[in-house]
Amino acid sequence: MRALGFRRYGPPEVLEPTEVPKPRPADDGVLIRVAAAGVNPADWRLRSGQLRLAVRLKMPFVPGSDVAGVVEAVGPAVTRLRPGDAVYAMLPNTAGGGYAEYAAVAERDVARVPPGLSLAQAAGVPLAALTALQALRDRANLRSGDRVLVNGASGGVGTFAVQIAAAMGGRVTGAASGRNAELVRSLGAKEVLDYAREDVLAGGERYDAVFDAANVLSFRAVRKALRPDGVFVTVNPVIGKLSPRWLARLRGGRRMESILVRPGGEDLETVGRWISGGLVKPVIDRSYGLAEAAEAQRYSAEGRARGKILLVVDEGLAEESVSGESRRSVRWEGQGPRVESLWEEA
Ligand SMILES: NC(=O)c1ccc[n+]([C@@H]2O[C@H](COP(=O)([O-])OP(=O)(O)OC[C@H]3O[C@@H](n4cnc5c(N)ncnc54)[C@H](OP(=O)(O)O)[C@@H]3O)[C@@H](O)[C@H]2O)c1
Repeated sequence: MRALGFRRYGPPEVLEPTEVPKPRPADDGVLIRVAAAGVNPADWRLRSGQLRLAVRLKMPFVPGSDVAGVVEAVGPAVTRLRPGDAVYAMLPNTAGGGYAEYAAVAERDVARVPPGLSLAQAAGVPLAALTALQALRDRANLRSGDRVLVNGASGGVGTFAVQIAAAMGGRVTGAASGRNAELVRSLGAKEVLDYAREDVLAGGERYDAVFDAANVLSFRAVRKALRPDGVFVTVNPVIGKLSPRWLARLRGGRRMESILVRPGGEDLETVGRWISGGLVKPVIDRSYGLAEAAEAQRYSAEGRARGKILLVVDEGLAEESVSGESRRSVRWEGQGPRVESLWEEA
């Protein structure tokens, strides 16, 4: 099958069209015909070799942790899904495989795409939304009424974090650069701080949770902005290893936690219910064709994305929207929302 991958670490140019064997679903897995894949910072970190001491990649390596598409085949032990279902999934951390025509995924990591989304929009959801959900629910233990600061509120993870924190009943402050203030407000932030103009931790506000989705804040800096039992959650998983959760909990008081996102169909269904209910929307910055993966990763590495970056693998399929009546299949309505920012006017 057609894929985009690399045979050696290096700059974006090492990404090239690659023919790789079409994967086969495991007994408890499904084969997804990929409509679109999400682009995440981990993709170019793996490609550049930044993570080579921690993760050994088998070459040629096909990046990509997010896929949305249609179930093509299922293994014999699969019970929930069947061919034709419109689905999305996060692939296992650092396994890659998303920048390709087909992806094989365990059924437990797959969920149906909520009605109303196109498959392209759906590809922007899994990894970023799961990171935000798991950070806020499992690390911050966010409760309704909590005050939460989301730093990096306009990025892939941050745009979900603002919406999910609000959906969980949090009172959200978002920190982003000024050009993204309206976007962040439109996602449900009651207040928006411009990190380029002010120290976002110095305003005197005390938060129950500070979620740093931009990986730029330190616990030392955040402490002063936390309530006495407040929690700082960082997307930097290395820091979490240096300061284990049990130690932080033992110390009591203000604590730091880190998140390493895990795939999960159940968590995706939780996000899907918020999407169906109109509480959460994927914000799509821009989309590229599969052959433009190098350009897409270059843009991601600039660190200025407004929401998600996509790779469209199958243009016809990617533009189809999943209809409300027929959740089991993609209807060829031909009029699905185009792969454009939902927030262009913002
Ligand atoms: N541990 C995990 O499991 C996990 C999972 C997912 C992601 N991550 C990590 O989380 C980070 C964010 O991922 P992402 O997908 O959201 O990336 P992204 O979409 O590339 O995030 C870009 C955003 O970061 C904002 N930003 C840049 N510098 C900032 C600063 N100094 N203060 C506040 N915001 C700033 C930018 O806003 P402006 O353009 O307005 O500056 C932009 O909106 C990455 O480092 C990624 O590797 C970790």
